[in-house]
Amino acid sequence: MHSPISIFLTTWAITSVLGSSIITTKVTPSYWRATISSPPFNLMDNAFLEDFFSLVDDIAADPEVKVVVFNSSVEDFFIAHFDILNPVSPELVGAAYWGNVTRLANLPVLTVAAIQGIVRGGGAELVASLDVRFGSKEKAIFGQPEVAIGVVPGSGEMRLLPRLTGRGRAMEIIIGSDDLDADTAALYGWINRAIPDDQFDEFVDRFARRVAGWDRYAIGHAKSVINQSGFPTLEEVQSDFAAFEASLSEGAVAARVEAMAKAGFQTSETFEIHLNREEIRFVGPGPWDS
Ligand SMILES: *[C@@H]1O[C@H](CO)[C@@H](O)[C@H](O)[C@H]1NC(C)=O
Ligand SMILES: *[C@@H]1O[C@H](CO)[C@@H](O)[C@H](O)[C@H]1NC(C)=O
Ligand SMILES: *[C@@H]1O[C@H](CO)[C@@H](O)[C@H](O)[C@H]1NC(C)=O
Repeated sequence: MHSPISIFLTTWAITSVLGSSIITTKVTPSYWRATISSPPFNLMDNAFLEDFFSLVDDIAADPEVKVVVFNSSVEDFFIAHFDILNPVSPELVGAAYWGNVTRLANLPVLTVAAIQGIVRGGGAELVASLDVRFGSKEKAIFGQPEVAIGVVPGSGEMRLLPRLTGRGRAMEIIIGSDDLDADTAALYGWINRAIPDDQFDEFVDRFARRVAGWDRYAIGHAKSVINQSGFPTLEEVQSDFAAFEASLSEGAVAARVEAMAKAGFQTSETFEIHLNREEIRFVGPGPWDS
């Protein structure tokens, strides 16, 4: 028998479209879903960042929301990476980006990444700054390709990852620049757990509905105390972003990125799926030439 409450819950869902790259669905007033919908790759570009920051404003302004689950509507990709071919507005990166990420981290709302595709680079950094990460065993892929391209992760990962995985595994992930499946990412602590894809939606939904039933005071208090174990500061992440930008404009890196663009970077699905394969990535001038 359906109680009036469960009928209310199942019929509530309200969907709103911010820009268009993130669609918010209020499953209930306290349980929201933020669906990243920027095909073909869910690149972190101007539109994505503007939508993400407005979503943070909406979450901060709402007194009822307690849990927000981020998922993707794009087959194969959660977030491919930061857009490095089309200049992203300076007002949306560095301090502005980290200010918004920190604001979200400090809200009395649990943020959950539900990853059933590829998440690399800036996307993997964004996911690491959220509170909880779940990955599909069969479909999720995690990677930091920056060092292989000649740059460094510029949005907090060099600070976040050692806290999640420990020093050695952070070294392996960031300097090894290779893909990890969800089982390995979970073993390392990069994500909370790997879940078989056919059980994924049910698991995440049940988790979110439970949390949505707790008191905001208790969620917020627990978050603020856990947070004392450390969250990267603005100064730290700003200096990482400056290093990322400086390395990106360095001659050999610029030439490599140009060669990658010709080979299908940010345009070819095959290239983006296999971004971390040597034969695809090691194009253009680089240390492997000498
Ligand atoms: C993502 O969440 C939305 C909103 O709840 C849902 O409609 C959609 O099916 C989810 N997408 C996937 C791939 O699970
Ligand atoms: C979020 O980003 C916007 C857009 O750049 C910026 O104006 C705002 O100050 C940022 N918020 C925080 C808390 O830093
Ligand atoms: C989280 O911790 C940082 C220091 O790591 C601190 O600056 C910030 O105020 C804390 N936020 C909350 C909500 O406690």
